[in-house]
Order: sequence, then structure tokens, then C-alpha cells
Amino acid sequence: MASVADYDRAANALRQPARIIPGGAPDPDELVRCAALAASSHNTQPWLFRIRAGEITITPDFSRRCPVVDPDDAHLYKSLGCAAENLVHAAAAQGLTAEAAFDPVADAVRLHLESAGVVRENTLFDAIFKRQCTKTPYDGSPLTRDELGALEQAGREGCAHTLLFTAKPRIEAVLEYVRRGNESQLNDRAFRRELLAWIRFNPGEALRNGDGLSGRTSGQPSLPRWIARHLIGLVLTAKGQNETDIRNIRSSSAIAIIVAAGNDRAAWIDAGRACQRLALRATALDLRSAFINQPVEVTALRPQLESWLGLNGMHALLMMRLGRAPLAPYSLRRPLEQVIIRD
Ligand SMILES: Cc1cc2nc3c(=O)[nH]c(=O)nc-3n(C[C@H](O)[C@H](O)[C@H](O)COP(=O)(O)O)c2cc1C
Repeated sequence: MASVADYDRAANALRQPARIIPGGAPDPDELVRCAALAASSHNTQPWLFRIRAGEITITPDFSRRCPVVDPDDAHLYKSLGCAAENLVHAAAAQGLTAEAAFDPVADAVRLHLESAGVVRENTLFDAIFKRQCTKTPYDGSPLTRDELGALEQAGREGCAHTLLFTAKPRIEAVLEYVRRGNESQLNDRAFRRELLAWIRFNPGEALRNGDGLSGRTSGQPSLPRWIARHLIGLVLTAKGQNETDIRNIRSSSAIAIIVAAGNDRAAWIDAGRACQRLALRATALDLRSAFINQPVEVTALRPQLESWLGLNGMHALLMMRLGRAPLAPYSLRRPLEQVIIRD
């Protein structure tokens, strides 16, 4: 039976920094490895990477959809944006430029790779191997003006940009939206069923699948599935989730809301890139981040949030909390062979 130590060994091995050989030939598998370390909704890793000469395309893997929480696949495309952002920085570390653009005909993010001639020092590349969604409480210490400026600048891509809130009354207002989101989601049987299907209750289950939400990353005890399925009904409640979220949000230093001018596949990819770059920049500053997306996921809540934000026709697409905390155990990924298509 796989142990917690086996789990941690596998999760840490996935994040061994890349060995870059200066002047060496481009290594597309390594680019894909870095891309796949990006965040994805429910850790579904809903991506396929097609490697061709001078190009990598990232296409959606619809077999990994979450139709209840993400009926229009917005989170799925944001996850592709997250992967594309990592790939851009990994390419730079191999001395390549990677121009990323959404191709609506192919329904894919195309990354055109060319030699840049030089390998520049890239702190965001280094952060790929350290970034994680840290789902624990943070220490509540304020962010400096420089940190806030760097985060705001990082969280911009295409039609998307980031609003940052640090004032207590604003954070309390966000918390209220999250609380109402939990009430709606966790009282919905279909939502709970879908979420349960992606929870990995013990190291064996997590290692067999290489995906999903492992209890190890959120500090839950390891349990056999049959016991966990009985207990989860008692734990996975709106009341329980609200207690966790209230504690976590109040311990955070800032809330980031990624907004975009559009609400289509291209905009979702921009938002994914913006949030991944924000998370990488935060990591480089030794800050942690985690998503609190309930208010943008619940259809009835989103317009209320957008009107409170005074967005004037822009769309709220992703929400995160930021702050300082120790690193927590990492999440797993599937083997590269399951996500690479070789022509
Ligand atoms: C589009 C998107 C939506 C997400 N929504 C949530 C969320 O609402 N709550 C949450 O705790 N994590 C959310 N996540 C984070 C994933 O659970 C996390 O990325 C995944 O489990 C992998 O873990 P890692 O990012 O630490 O590697 C989201 C990630 C993405 C890209």
C-alpha cells in the first residue's frame, strides 16, 4: 500500500528543476513537463500537447470536463492558458521565444517556437517548480507596495488584468460572496457528486490516477475510499467549507480578481495566462496563492459580484487569495506519455 512518504516522493520528483544544457537542442518533452505543472481546475489536467517542428499546440481534452461546476468549459480553457504561460517561460529557459495565440479554427493554443539566440535569467521559470496552490491559512502580514505593484503588473495578459484588494471591508465583502457560493454549491447534489469523483482520498488512489484533489495537499487524513465516502457527507458541507474559507480568507494579505473584456475562449485563455503569471510572480516573491472561485462559478452570484466591482461590462473570471505561509505538500501530475501527441 502506498504511503504518504511515497506520495511526497512522487510529488517532489515531478518538480525537480530542469537541467538546461546551454546551447543544447530544444527539448520539447521538457517544455511539456513544465507546462503540465500549471494549475488546472480540480487538477483535471484537461490538456493534450501536440509536438511538431517549431510548434507546440495545446488542445482541450474534453474527456476531463467538469460539466456541473464548469458547464461552458470556461475553467477548462483557463487551465489551458495556465499551461501555455508555463510553456512560454520554459521555452525562454531553453533559449527559445514562444509566441502563444489562440487559434479558434483549430480550437487550440498555438505556441510558435523560435530561437531567441540567448538564454536570459528568468525568475518566473524557476518559480514553475515551486508554485503551488497553498490551501492553508496565511500569516496575515501586509504586502509591501513593491510586492503589490509587481503582482498587479504580472496579472495582465491580452484582454485580462488583475484587481487587487487589501482593505479589510473589501475582503469581508468578497468573503460574503464566497460564503454564498458555498451555500449554493455544497447544497447541490450534482456539484458534490462531481467534486467527490475528483477527490483522491489516500496516497494509493492519488498515485494511481496522477490527477485530482489529493487530501494530502489540503491537510486531510489519508483514508480508504469506502470509509471516506461515508465520512465525507459529514465533512463536505456548506457550514464546514465556510468555516475553512472564512479562516483562510481572513488570514490572507490580499484578494486578486482577474477580470477580462471578453467572456469567450480567447478571453478565458488570457485570464488563465494572467493568473498563472500572477501565481509565478507571487512564488518568486515567496508569497503563496490559492483560488476562491465560488462567486464566479455560481451563475446567479457572478452578475452581483460584477456589479459590486463596478466592472462596466467587463467579466470577473477568476479569484485568488494571496499571502505568506510555509509551503504545503504538492499535487501530482499524470505521466507525460498520457498528455503528449506525437505526429
Ligand atoms: C481555472 C481554475 C479554477 C480553479 N478553481 C479552484 C477553486 O475554486 N478552488 C480551489 O481550491 N482550487 C481551484 N483551482 C486550483 C486547482 O485545484 C489546483 O491548481 C490543482 O489542484 C493543482 O494543484 P497545484 O496548483 O497546487 O499544482 C483552480 C485552478 C484553475 C486553473
